[in-house]
Amino acid sequence: MTSRIAALFILIALFPRHAAAAVARAPPAHHVSRAITSKAGLGWANGAANDITQYLSTGKVQWYYTWSPDPVQTDIEFVPMLWGLKQTDEWDSNINKTIAAQHVTSVLGFNEPEIEGQGNLSPADGATQWKAHIEPLKGLNVRLGAPAPSGSPTGKQWVTDWLSACDGGCTVDFMPLHWYDVNSTAFIEYLEDYHNTFQKPIWVTEWACQNFNQADRQCSLDDIVGFMNATQSFMDSTDWVERYAWFGAMENLQGVNQENALMSTSGSITSLGEQYIGAATPNVTSDYQPGVVHGGSGVSAPSATQASSSSESRQAILWQVVTFGTLASLFLCS
Ligand SMILES: *[C@@H]1O[C@H](CO)[C@@H](O)[C@H](O)[C@H]1NC(C)=O
Ligand SMILES: *[C@@H]1O[C@H](CO)[C@@H](O)[C@H](O)[C@H]1NC(C)=O
Ligand SMILES: *[C@@H]1O[C@H](CO)[C@@H](O)[C@H](O)[C@H]1NC(C)=O
Ligand SMILES: *[C@@H]1O[C@H](CO)[C@@H](O)[C@H](O)[C@H]1NC(C)=O
Repeated sequence: MTSRIAALFILIALFPRHAAAAVARAPPAHHVSRAITSKAGLGWANGAANDITQYLSTGKVQWYYTWSPDPVQTDIEFVPMLWGLKQTDEWDSNINKTIAAQHVTSVLGFNEPEIEGQGNLSPADGATQWKAHIEPLKGLNVRLGAPAPSGSPTGKQWVTDWLSACDGGCTVDFMPLHWYDVNSTAFIEYLEDYHNTFQKPIWVTEWACQNFNQADRQCSLDDIVGFMNATQSFMDSTDWVERYAWFGAMENLQGVNQENALMSTSGSITSLGEQYIGAATPNVTSDYQPGVVHGGSGVSAPSATQASSSSESRQAILWQVVTFGTLASLFLCS
């Protein structure tokens, strides 16, 4: 496809798991409270296949989510997610035990519910399912995160319609969202608009410097270094942003520009990963300017076939390409 074709690429998330919370309700007395003092987290879809401790050396990363109800073996705070309806049986059977055993303070609702290959729920079904599976957890003193939409306009609209369908019956303590694009000022404006609209604390549970509108106009690593610094600095200094998790800490970013990886293809932390966790001063080049579209350096997005191998069997991704009204979607399972 040529760059002249107005193509809308809606990526997106993985079938696996992960997320976090900053202001917890008072936990039950028998819980060991681990107060979060930093917003940075990891979307960790790798299970035990990769070493998570590489990301914990500075203490800046204090939580993780796995796009699922299942934790991994680590000391940082786990945030379970009910990704979609295929997880509801497991969720209902295990979530109360997980909340107690993992000292969970927050849970995440559906992943990109407006996307067919992701959460895939109408706002009305989303409200019904929320009331059945998530709302009851209020009784366990956990904070509830709304469904996390993609950054497309239909995402925010879905959340608006879902809140109407809830008719006051869905307790939302904070609002997760995803965002992929190449302009750090536009990212900040998007967060401000989302916050102004819903008046709730924000968690950014996926973001990266990724161009889904023009596949052959991706950010270079230098662009990403500046973009990450600008966006992460903004969130670190903005009190209504409670937590965030970059996309991503995995060997294969599954269709997202691989320069965004916090992990090398052999599983070790990258220099961008060192920046993310605060182990290295951001090496921002002097020509980086927030508010300028970064990308166009000729880095092509990996093709769908390149994106198909991955380290964990449960990982899967939807890569949707909408072109001139034609929708093709590939569901890739590793
Ligand atoms: C989990 O806890 C909630 C809140 O107390 C409760 O409504 C629900 O029945 C519990 N689920 C199970 C399977 O025990
Ligand atoms: C980047 O986003 C900002 C905020 O929306 C906008 O004012 C600016 O024009 C954008 N830059 C480009 C090059 O499109
Ligand atoms: C990182 O971004 C912040 C906020 O825009 C800026 O003040 C700071 O100078 C940037 N750091 C570097 C090393 O450029
Ligand atoms: C910082 O980035 C520039 C431009 O990519 C590179 O030439 C330089 O080696 C980097 N410096 C360090 C300390 O990584």
